[in-house]
Amino acid sequence: MTDTSSFKAPKGVPDYLPPTSAEFVAVRDGLIRAARLAGYGHIELPVFEETALFARGVGESTDVVSKEMWTFADRKGQSYTLRPEGTAGVMRAVIEHNLDRGQLPVKLCYAGPFFRYERPQAGRYRQLQQVGVEAIGVDDPALDAEVIAIADAGFRALGLTGFRLEITSLGDETCRPQYRELLQEFLFRLPLDEETRRRAEINPLRVLDDKRPQVRELVADAPLMIDHLSESAKAHFDQVLGLLDALGVPYVVNPRMVRGLDYYTKTTFEFVHDGLGAQSGIGGGGRYDGLMAQLGGQPLSGIGFGLGVDRTVLALRAEGKSAGDAASCDVYGVPLGDIAKQHLVVLSARLRAAGIRTDLAYGGRSMKSAIKAADKSGARLALVLGDREVADGEIGLKDLRTGEQRQVALDDVVAEVTAALATE
Ligand code: HAM
Repeated sequence: MTDTSSFKAPKGVPDYLPPTSAEFVAVRDGLIRAARLAGYGHIELPVFEETALFARGVGESTDVVSKEMWTFADRKGQSYTLRPEGTAGVMRAVIEHNLDRGQLPVKLCYAGPFFRYERPQAGRYRQLQQVGVEAIGVDDPALDAEVIAIADAGFRALGLTGFRLEITSLGDETCRPQYRELLQEFLFRLPLDEETRRRAEINPLRVLDDKRPQVRELVADAPLMIDHLSESAKAHFDQVLGLLDALGVPYVVNPRMVRGLDYYTKTTFEFVHDGLGAQSGIGGGGRYDGLMAQLGGQPLSGIGFGLGVDRTVLALRAEGKSAGDAASCDVYGVPLGDIAKQHLVVLSARLRAAGIRTDLAYGGRSMKSAIKAADKSGARLALVLGDREVADGEIGLKDLRTGEQRQVALDDVVAEVTAALATE
């Protein structure tokens, strides 16, 4: 028999518990709000899809597909995978429901869990949470700038400041293949070890991202995509940078940036926070102009981002800031007797109906333990009611910050509480 006392969450999968879950909710909602302000409609997608969708969409040679997918067969042997990222699923839904036949761009945003079988460590989870946007069907540098500016504004609205935006262009279908050849020619001339050589064959760009100092030194003079852009890709990139300047969004061009997903073309970016150690990417995204056609849809362009909610929470903490209200309620009822409790149950419902977060002490607690619970809840006010006061039509309104208590008429409680909460 299973020992039920030893159940644990799967390795690398966080639980989000009060009071700190309030930070998670505030970060997630804050990032979604930034997208909503720019007209992105909510899309809610399945957490698992056919395995082939990710293999084809994200790229067989990526770590995400080759090493990190949570894949399983259903009862009929069909292979499914827990979504490792959001873009492929959004494209599948857009194609399946013909959203791309309506007004363009199709602007969608989403939030939720994604799954990657990575080695768990601080800021790297096997179930991670992202907020993402995708804008599909218009190849306009102004849209690139919008997507990037939304992410920047979302982070800043949460109070985050210690991050930087790194940006580059990965070229388009005219210049990328030529560059790839050029880079491979360069790499094949180097004394690379067997594995790195193989990587250079499959995905030469990845070699530029190698962290080992000896490889870094070898590739220091490698040709860079940014110096070999086609005229139109270069014009596109220059316009994006010009718009970011106009928007006041600071950036650093990083021509060696390599993203972990294969679908990127042209504008590609990452938000990096230095307070996070090795897992410093708090968000990333870019254009993926060939993806829709690759997944069987029209040859439409697209751009989007995925922002890491978990890492953004950690980044805020690293800056000594926190988001959200950890208090579970504003008002806490302290009943001293059964009749008083009946009254407080009804009163709590009235306060909640007036939009005031209210909780009360259940289970016949003493005054002392009920006030302790009130403090723990983070409430600002306690309503203290004894059986005898009920007869007098009065109730004690206690300010839990100052400890001051005064009697107010039971009939006036909603107005009195509202007024007390409005004062600082
Ligand atoms: P990504 O860079 O793979 O992009 O992930 C986006 C963000 O998710 C990362 O910057 C990071 O903050 C967070 N993240 C990724 N893996 C983990 C993990 N194991 N633990 C904690 N956080 C993690 C994408 O997923 C693309 N779909 C983004 C996109 C949308 N590009 C275009 N449209």
